[in-house]
Amino acid sequence: MCGIVGAVAQRNVLPILLDGLRRLEYRGYDSVGIAVVDAGKQISRIRSVGKIIELEKALDENPETRGITGIAHTRWATHGPPTKSNAHPHMSGPGLALVCNGIIENHEDLRLAQKTRGFKFQSDTDTEVIVNEVYQHLNNGADLLEAVQATIKVLEGAFAIGVICSDEPHRLVGARRGSPLVVGIGEGEAFLASDMSALISVTRDFYILDDGDVVDINNANICIMDSLGQIQQREIKTSKLTAESVELGEHRHFMLKEIHEQSTAIANTLEGRISGKSLLEESFGTEANRIFDATLSVQIIACGTSYHAGLVAKYWFEELGVPCQVEIASEFRSRVHAVPDKCLVVTLSQSGETIDTLSALSEAKKIGFANSLTICNAPESSLVRESDLVMMTHAGPEIGVASTKAFTTQLVALRLLAIALGRRRHLSSEHEAKLVAELRELPAKVEEAIKLEPIIKEIAEQFADKHHALFLGRGTHYPIALEGALKLKEISYIHAEAYPAGELKHGPLALIDSEMPVISVAPNDRLLDKLKANIEEVRARGGKLIVFADVETEMSDQQNLQVINVASVDSSIAPIIFTIPLQLLSYHVALIKGTDVDKPRNLAKSVTVE
Ligand code: G6P
Repeated sequence: MCGIVGAVAQRNVLPILLDGLRRLEYRGYDSVGIAVVDAGKQISRIRSVGKIIELEKALDENPETRGITGIAHTRWATHGPPTKSNAHPHMSGPGLALVCNGIIENHEDLRLAQKTRGFKFQSDTDTEVIVNEVYQHLNNGADLLEAVQATIKVLEGAFAIGVICSDEPHRLVGARRGSPLVVGIGEGEAFLASDMSALISVTRDFYILDDGDVVDINNANICIMDSLGQIQQREIKTSKLTAESVELGEHRHFMLKEIHEQSTAIANTLEGRISGKSLLEESFGTEANRIFDATLSVQIIACGTSYHAGLVAKYWFEELGVPCQVEIASEFRSRVHAVPDKCLVVTLSQSGETIDTLSALSEAKKIGFANSLTICNAPESSLVRESDLVMMTHAGPEIGVASTKAFTTQLVALRLLAIALGRRRHLSSEHEAKLVAELRELPAKVEEAIKLEPIIKEIAEQFADKHHALFLGRGTHYPIALEGALKLKEISYIHAEAYPAGELKHGPLALIDSEMPVISVAPNDRLLDKLKANIEEVRARGGKLIVFADVETEMSDQQNLQVINVASVDSSIAPIIFTIPLQLLSYHVALIKGTDVDKPRNLAKSVTVE
């Protein structure tokens, strides 16, 4: 977790670092800090607990702080609480400062060894051992690059670091293993960051560092070395991100902006993937045909919201005759598997950097899963680089911690994959044509669902004093209920659970009273009658229901039952449509609760720790 940014320039780098931090806040936001070196070899470090605004206040009190080289960090605490002393940058000696994103697994051994060498520790973090190690090598005569190269040899774990030193005011050294790091190329200046979006206001051109790379930025010269110390010429990648795509515009929150962007995001994800009445299979990559032919089953691996997309897809795949398992990445990676024959591993991830998903993929490859495909929203991410096939979701940058458009575009990509694999099983060309036509309708149907916002805003009022909520769904809509509950709990802090509606009688009915709203989605599918029966079970026990129902179900308001009609859609795309009102509901409840919608407490968007 955590976001890092660094810069070497001819001008004051403080505004560049602050802008980068703002754009990286999604990676963690419990404390924040910067260190800058000026041309006169003076180093200044300012750190604050809380979000970037706290750092800006601290900088206002220290207006003389400026520098031509600097590093900055926004933290998501792992080792040590979010205090000022645990905030990065960490320093060793009078002039050496370092920021780190990652976890150093052997930090206790290093700490003990450093203590015996006389180092005094200022923080509880695992990072401080890195800066001490670099300091030790500098003291022994190494220059900054050599000191960093020697240091990372003794580190175990996953990390990305940026290091500056007051003795070399034009130099910034970075290194990565496991955690992401990119180098931004400017005119007479150069930058480092956890991702491209952090630097989008200063450059479009980037080197994406490979695992094990070290970069030495000396003035504007950028020298990249691989893990063996060999100089490497990495390809320049030009980011397609625009500054506007990572800015709020007219919206109050990124989450709301991203909910409203879903129709376009879905249209972009479909573009170039379907033609006429069929799927363009080559959009999965040149090897897709061969790999799909050789696939007998699918294993989906993901975390959080992406995992819920996987759960929906299981229904879709199996309906078309493709056996499918879905597992949370942190569980998958740490158990013994009976590896199925010719099983395609499909990872789902917005960021492409979730460490559990990456580790699960690596484990799957090691134990003999046949091939891998990732459905991902971040080009150049680690998952994209490490998978045989890639289907990018073209959702655009998602900044709000609670995932919205990444989820619905993942569902679209999964439908395309289901078609590709279904072709080799039960899917006829007529059926494919029907599924493709339904996908084409999606952007317009999403727009219609978004129009429910005013009524959802009113319903949200009912949650102002509630502490618990229950979400119900059946079939493909059980994962949608799970996603609705996750959205509500992560941004409004209301405890929410989701159940398959048929499971109510096995426990959750005991919780029903007038104080716990029960939210259900009711598409017009073959499970509708069973769902209606479950709804009656809740009403009979005094529960209050809010039901988002396909208009053709002809459900209407009754005592303790409020029905919100959703435009009718075919069951194949219904999970995507019914997600929208649940997103809007949690957003408006969070607004009423007054929480920090885009940066809910204790969470981060890109989870790069185990
Ligand atoms: C975090 C985010 C979620 C996301 C999950 C998986 O928990 O807050 O929104 O669903 O990570 O992230 P990924 O980038 O792998 O989809």
